Parts: sequence; structure tokens; C-alpha cells
Amino acid sequence: MQENISIQAFNTFGIDVKARYYFSLKTLTQLEELASLPAIHSSRLVLGGGSNVLFTRDFNGIVIHNQLRGIEVVEEDDDTIWVKAAAGENWHSFVLHCIENNWCGIENLSLIPGKVGASPMQNIGAYGVEIKDVFHELEAWNIQKEQVDTFDREDCQFGYRESVFKHDLKNQYLILSVTFRLSKRPNVNVSYGTIEEVLNTMGVENPGIKEVSNAIIAIRQSKLPDPAEIGNAGSFFKNPVVSDNLASQLISRYPHMPNYKVSESEVKIPAGWLIEQAGWKGKRFNNYGVHEKQALVLVNYGGAKGQEIVDLSHEIQRDVQEKFGIIINPEVNFI
Ligand code: FAD
Ligand code: EPU
Repeated sequence: MQENISIQAFNTFGIDVKARYYFSLKTLTQLEELASLPAIHSSRLVLGGGSNVLFTRDFNGIVIHNQLRGIEVVEEDDDTIWVKAAAGENWHSFVLHCIENNWCGIENLSLIPGKVGASPMQNIGAYGVEIKDVFHELEAWNIQKEQVDTFDREDCQFGYRESVFKHDLKNQYLILSVTFRLSKRPNVNVSYGTIEEVLNTMGVENPGIKEVSNAIIAIRQSKLPDPAEIGNAGSFFKNPVVSDNLASQLISRYPHMPNYKVSESEVKIPAGWLIEQAGWKGKRFNNYGVHEKQALVLVNYGGAKGQEIVDLSHEIQRDVQEKFGIIINPEVNFI
């Protein structure tokens, strides 16, 4: 364990804060040592790739940096393969590994930053797929009880950018591995957004999972900032889900407002559109601001404080609520 170390390099917003204690978890045998540390009973934070957190101050507790590695096939039949990945595996490398083996199901989740262990936390999603669609089970260490528990899909209570680990079980578990149920009979999903259009411009007629992944990588790179160049944590807010009634009123005021029906009585509205219409897109305040190509992404151009970005997010929330009567909530975890 190390003390008082900077975790700037371990969060994609690039916020320069210190952790009082820092523990790098590389093997399961270290769990016993971790459990014996007095610091484990103070504030604790399990950190993966740090791509969905915003540090607002020094962390006066223990940061457990998950670096468990390993991928194994646990079961297979003619159609399906169950693949278990350790929590510290890089998500995108895992996706590429599955594509290379022709295991289908997570190619639409290409290029999402972070580690496998965080993927169930908010049920990561993109381009028409969420991990709940391919999730089999996960193993997690109950930090208080010092035991490994297994969670199936129902136990995880997945929702849009939600799971039980963000609510009832917050800070209680360290996810160790996730097992995915993938298909050996590739069946691509290209119906979302501009995937088909991009495949056409790439001259691809009968796309396989590799081509779909390449198209999604191209779309993502065209609008999302690369954290290696500009600090960010992807979408800062979740897309709000509003009543049919409110959506109809807004559509009559703004006929071009994008909107997606999610149930009989609810409609999802892109927060990026609302923030752009409210005039925030591309706004820069010293060394932080709203990304110029995607208004849902707040950025640190270098040296910003986490609290400055939180304050900006509050101003945006207030403005969107005043202009559209819609409350937008953060997706990013404030620490
Ligand atoms: P971290 O940021 O390290 O942690 C996130 C949360 O999970 C924290 O609360 C942390 O305590 C907890 N946690 C992490 N690992 C564990 C574990 N092993 N056990 C228990 N708790 C844990 N997300 C999407 O859903 N879809 C996208 O398309 C998408 N695009 C993105 C694009 C960019 C450019 C960026 C920067 C982010 C994007 N994200 C997206 C958000 C982010 O990449 C995901 O949420 C990712 O799963 C976070 O992984 P991480 O390892 O970096 O988690
Ligand atoms: N839009 C604007 N202005 C903007 C941004 C978006 O008008 O500045 C409009 C777009 O024109 C489009 C709509 O909003 O009509 C949706 O935009 P986009 O396809 O870029 O997706 P998003 O809703 O902004 C969501 C996820 C992303 C995910 C993509 C693709 C959330 C909060 N975000 O973004 O996830 O990659 O869809 O599926 O659901 C993340 O969670 O960090 C993340 C990046």
C-alpha cells in the first residue's frame, strides 16, 4: 500500500488530487491482505480506469485500484459461449479479443474506456446494446463480510445507466470478474443511428462484427474527445426520460427535437440536444468547458479543479430546467 499519492493519471478527467492510501490489487490472493488493513474500514473507492468519476477533492481514504487480469472460456455449446473476464481487463481490449474469436454480442460497445469490472456498475451501453443483453453473472467480494458472492442478471437490477451497485449495494462490493454469454453465430445489430450510413460510406455491404466495430469506432472518434488529449468522462449527464405529455408539448414548440419512445408513456430526449439549444455547446471557461462537438461532454483542458466542473454542471442543469422544464441528472460519479 502507498500513501498520499497523486491519482491524476488514474482518472480520465485528469483531475489532480491525492489519495490518502492507494492499494494496487493484482491478484486474488491480495484480498486477505486488503481485508486486514485498518484503512479498509475508512472511506474506500474501487477504481477501474477512472473514466466515469470526477474527483472534487483529495480522497481521504483508500483507493483500491483494480488490476486483476485474465480471460477464460467457462462453457460453450454449438451456439453460445460463456466468457469470464477479470475485472481489471481493459474493456475495449476485451471487446477486440471477442471479435477476433468471432464471439458476437459486445461489438457495438467498442471503444468504451475503462475496465470490465465497472461495466455492470452502470450497465454500460452504446449503439443499441447494453451489457445486460449479454450478461451472465459476476463475482464480487463483499468487503465487510470478506466473502465472494455471485450475482445473476436479476440480482444486478440493471436499468438505463443503473444497477444495484450504484444504489442499495453502493461501496459494499468489489467486483472481481464478469461472465458474458456471447453468440457463436454472429448476428449484427446495425439499426442504431448512423451505423448503416457509415458502413455504406466505408463500402461495406455485408458487415461482420469486425466491420460493425470499425464503423462504431469511426463514429465515436468523430464526436467524442479522446481522454488522452482532453480530460473528460464521456456523457456527463444521463439522457432524461420524460412523460409523453411533456414530450408532446416540447415537440410542438421544437418540431426538430430528437426523441425516442421508451415505453407506452415515456420518451427519452437527448440531453446533448437540450444543452446545445440552451447555448452551452463549445463554451469554454479558462481551462474547462463544454465540448465543441458533443454538448453532453464536459471537458478539462488541463489543470481544472473537479469542483469547477461540478459548479458548471449545476449551472447547466439549472438553465436546462428553466428553459425546458426538464431535470437532467449526472451520469458521472462525483467523488
Ligand atoms: P471507474 O471510472 O474507475 O469507476 C466508475 C464507478 O464504478 C465508480 O463508482 C467506481 O467506484 C465503480 N467501480 C469501478 N470498478 C469497480 C469494481 N471492480 N468493483 C466495484 N466498483 C467498481 N459509458 C457508457 O455506458 N457508454 C459509452 O458509450 C461511454 N462512452 C464513454 C466515452 C468516453 C470518451 C469516456 C471517457 C467515458 C465513456 N463512458 C461510457 C463512461 C465510462 O467509460 C464507463 O462508465 C466505464 O464502464 C467506466 O469504467 P472504469 O473502469 O473507468 O470505471
Ligand atoms: N445532439 C445534439 N447536440 C449535441 C449532442 C447530441 O443535438 O451536442 C443530438 C444528436 O444530434 C442526436 C442525439 O442528440 O440526435 C443523440 O446524440 P448521440 O447519438 O451523440 O448520443 P447521446 O445520446 O449524446 C448516448 C450515450 C453515449 C453513447 C451514445 C451512443 C447517454 C448519456 N449517452 O449519447 O454514452 O455512446 O448514446 O449510443 O446515454 C456515456 O455514457 O458516457 C456515453 C458516451
